[in-house]
Amino acid sequence: MNWYEEAFDEYYLDIYDHRDDDDALKDVMFAKDILELNHKKTLLDLCCGAGRHSVLFSPLVKKVVGYDLSIPLLNVASQNALKQKCKNLFLLRGNMLHLDFNDCFDAVCSFFNSFGYFEKLEDHIKVLTNIYLSLNSGGCFLLDIMNVDYLKNNLIPISKKEIETYVITEKRSIDEHYSIVRKEVLIQLKSDLSEVKKYIESVHFFSKPQITEMLLTVGFEDIIFFGSTDGASVTPYSKRLLVVCKKPN
Ligand SMILES: C[S@@+](CC[C@H](N)C(=O)[O-])C[C@H]1O[C@@H](n2cnc3c(N)ncnc32)[C@H](O)[C@@H]1O
Repeated sequence: MNWYEEAFDEYYLDIYDHRDDDDALKDVMFAKDILELNHKKTLLDLCCGAGRHSVLFSPLVKKVVGYDLSIPLLNVASQNALKQKCKNLFLLRGNMLHLDFNDCFDAVCSFFNSFGYFEKLEDHIKVLTNIYLSLNSGGCFLLDIMNVDYLKNNLIPISKKEIETYVITEKRSIDEHYSIVRKEVLIQLKSDLSEVKKYIESVHFFSKPQITEMLLTVGFEDIIFFGSTDGASVTPYSKRLLVVCKKPN
């Protein structure tokens, strides 16, 4: 089994509880402006997870499709969509490697490091190609990935937190040779420290020139970068690399 098939389950939302709806609202407002979203536009929220962005996009556009591989997270997304009465939000399960839409969307977004999960570079190119094909001519893509410079200078090798009945230990390392950041996640019961779950996340990181080359190879144009959702440019202190590009008309 690939790590991304086992990592994103009900525990995931506890591990990443700091990424909440307030962050999502800032992301969505940024995306609305930069992707020029309005009530005539269709949007694909790729790797939507629990749908924290999809439900906020729903009142802003004609239709949102939330696409993800994780059944537990899609279940939470579905409950959120019901709660928020999102009638134009459709949730689909699939692997982005096999994303298969043709000229369907005016915009695609991928938030919070949902890219770089595969072993081979050609699989990442395949995902970008799938995104390109899914867009209408003139459609835009927003990709939110880690900023390599920040990551390298600020890596926290080990951290521990207690959530409800669990202790979660995360050990991080960078493999410069393969441009991979690895995180070993251990979930234990607080009561007796027995192991509940253990897995290793392994995410490829890409520099600005690398991601630019990949996007150009696929056919995208007008590539621009931001370091945060307030529109700031990228510096070594920016935690994120927000990349916006366009499928030609
Ligand atoms: C870091 S989470 C981000 C979730 C969401 N975008 C957010 O900001 O809350 C990555 C998401 O990618 C999904 N995912 C992982 N591998 C995938 C794949 N191969 N195809 C589709 N979705 C995948 C996971 O299930 C998870 O929901």
